[in-house]
Amino acid sequence: MFSRLSQVQRRAWNLKLQTRAFTSGAFLKSTTSPSNSAMIAAGVGGAGLGIYLHFNSTIYSDAADEGLHPPSYPWVHNSPFSTFDHASIRRGYQVYQEVCAACHSLDLIAYRNLVGVSHSEDEVKAIAEAIEVEDGPNDIGDMFTRPGKPSDYLPRPYPNEEAARAANAGAYPPDLSLIVKGRHGGGDYIFSLLTGYYDPPPGIEVKEGLYYNPYFPGGSIAMARALYDGIVEYEDGTPATTSQMAKDVVSFLSWASEPEHDERKKLGLKAVSLLTGLFVISIWLKRYKWSPLKNRKIIYNLPK
Ligand code: HEC
Repeated sequence: MFSRLSQVQRRAWNLKLQTRAFTSGAFLKSTTSPSNSAMIAAGVGGAGLGIYLHFNSTIYSDAADEGLHPPSYPWVHNSPFSTFDHASIRRGYQVYQEVCAACHSLDLIAYRNLVGVSHSEDEVKAIAEAIEVEDGPNDIGDMFTRPGKPSDYLPRPYPNEEAARAANAGAYPPDLSLIVKGRHGGGDYIFSLLTGYYDPPPGIEVKEGLYYNPYFPGGSIAMARALYDGIVEYEDGTPATTSQMAKDVVSFLSWASEPEHDERKKLGLKAVSLLTGLFVISIWLKRYKWSPLKNRKIIYNLPK
């Protein structure tokens, strides 16, 4: 009986030794030869990826197809703690009205949206009254025109897309309400586009009715240069250079695509500071509540 037990024990012991030897062998194996092939595979894969990215990036960064990449400009509203430059929005509204509104609509903006942003309420009422709006029908079923109200939306230059295309040699001037969000590069792109009209370099053909602009994908755009030094006269005396007007109209359009921007940042700041305070308090409270548990010492006294 005794010898039989020890036999079983010995066998178990042997088995244990064997498995240990086997697992450590496998472990050793996996750290030597497979790691070499893994490194070779990783090296080949890395080189392959490098070659793939090299050729693909040269294809995809073709400036003629994709448009020249705009530089990044220091917009004040890019900082996490800054609002829009509202004086610039006001000048930009003037540029939009006097230049761009001849071809581009701004469907999502009503006059009342300007109140407290770029104009006072009385100013907005006066601006709105200057336009004629078709309304109706009246008591006898006829449409009539009336002076605009702050609740009216900015009027469109053309009644429909067909009329817009017919007036612009087949090209459609897009609505500008969300253009800053809708274009890769946002405000940087639109600023570059508006200030980026040059003579085409030798060897580049620009079709009749198109204009050379390296920032526009394809390199030729159906919109002629719209901004020239001094075409608007700013009421605050800012010199109306081409780049100044481009900056202002981009500020205005950035606001138009994101009117909640200032409010959003203010709310975000409040939320982050409040939650930081609550987080600190919650850590203190946790440590306070847990301190008796963390500091206790358990002693077992043998019963006498
Ligand atoms: C004479 C009419 C006209 C005026 C004025 C005009 N545009 Fe345009 N705009 C066009 C047309 C047409 C297109 C479409 C171009 C195309 O698709 O090739 C266009 C396209 C654009 C685009 C879109 C480019 C893109 O990436 O698709 C932007 C942004 C733009 N205009 C901004 C402005 C701004 C800002 C102003 C005022 C400073 C302005 N435009 C004045 C006719 C005009």
